[in-house]
Amino acid sequence: MELTQAQRAQFDRDGYLIFPDLFSSAEVAVLRQEVARLAEIHSEEVFREHTGGVKSLFRVHETDGATRSAPFCAMVRTPRVLRPVQQVLGTDEVYVYHTKINAKPAIEGTHWAWHQDYNSWSKDGCPRPDMATFNVMLNDTSEFSGGLYILPGSHKLGLLESVQDQSTSYKSWSIPKQKMVEVLRNSPPPVPVTGRAGTGVLFHCNVLHASGHNLSGEDRWHIYVSCNAVANKPVLGPNPRPDWVVSRNWHALKLEDDAGVTKAA
Ligand code: SIN
Ligand code: MN
Repeated sequence: MELTQAQRAQFDRDGYLIFPDLFSSAEVAVLRQEVARLAEIHSEEVFREHTGGVKSLFRVHETDGATRSAPFCAMVRTPRVLRPVQQVLGTDEVYVYHTKINAKPAIEGTHWAWHQDYNSWSKDGCPRPDMATFNVMLNDTSEFSGGLYILPGSHKLGLLESVQDQSTSYKSWSIPKQKMVEVLRNSPPPVPVTGRAGTGVLFHCNVLHASGHNLSGEDRWHIYVSCNAVANKPVLGPNPRPDWVVSRNWHALKLEDDAGVTKAA
């Protein structure tokens, strides 16, 4: 799938692009069945809440490892996902930095604070913000079901200072409150990213985003395919994060079958 000139200009201006109904309901059904299978696995790639429920499932795009999954492996290599990533990163030499499937149980699933993904990835040693994430909704997402909010154009602010949230099981970096208040007061309103299951959103690693509490009656499952230019692979420090969050497989992905998800079922 080739982006049009207008879409490329929109990504440069806003820092994100939405692709309604990118994956069909048949493909989403295959992926949801995979999520149910993967959620039973106990390994370091699967983060659980203290209640035992899954919060994040990592590394579903490789052909090896505990959380390998043929349908998700096919999904990240479809021209629908990989080609737009190659285009916005300006190179065909792109690899998956990590994949994660984040859950938010109905009524209980909580927010993710405002952040830029490059807050963490710069600390991993990635030299430049030549990175982007493809989020695909695996369930219908409304303003109330814990989907993403994006601050349009915020990638142009560059990398902002961040602080680590120690209160969550998965330590994440976010923008300090005073700074975020100032940014919000001086920005256009945030956009809630909504759509039917199968909708995708591609966003720049410096775009400010957050997500809200899931007040709906359906569990929320979203996959995030985060990608990096091979030329921007991290210069790892003395204590790098594990492979399932900072991939050491920096071979460029090849475009594969666009029908790969259903064929892998
Ligand atoms: C993230 O931005 O890393 C996660 C957001 C979410 O799962 O809602
Ligand atoms: Mn993020």
